[in-house]
Amino acid sequence: MALYSEKVMDHFRNPRNVGVIEDADGIGEVGNAKCGDIMKMYLKIEDGIIVDVKFETFGCGSAIASSSMATELIKGQPVSEAMKLTNKAVAEALDGLPDYKMHCSVLAEEAIQSALKDYYEKNGIAYDEEQFKDPSDCAHCCED
Ligand code: FES
Repeated sequence: MALYSEKVMDHFRNPRNVGVIEDADGIGEVGNAKCGDIMKMYLKIEDGIIVDVKFETFGCGSAIASSSMATELIKGQPVSEAMKLTNKAVAEALDGLPDYKMHCSVLAEEAIQSALKDYYEKNGIAYDEEQFKDPSDCAHCCED
């Protein structure tokens, strides 16, 4: 069996939504302490809906595929839905990732959450700090 699914290979070779949004409403940048890979996520939000999303990933193929799939999953969705996106959902949408590559999908979840937090803060929207993981707390993704 191939190590990576066709969807992972497709999103790695042809990543969707790569780039920068100059007038983004929320920007999130997270890094993986273990491998040093970095992911930056840009959100354009209108009336609580994510109308555009772009990313830059300086990282492995799984991180690129995860970022690409994550942007597809949240584009057009309400902010509240994007908040709930988990790395497991991203990995499932990619038809799975090898166990030792699951931490790469965590980067996508955290980059989106970090961008949403930035959006809340820039717009003075109250939020519950508890719903955000600390992006610097990499313990949950770097134990492999
Ligand atoms: Fe660093 Fe995949 S090995 S994010």
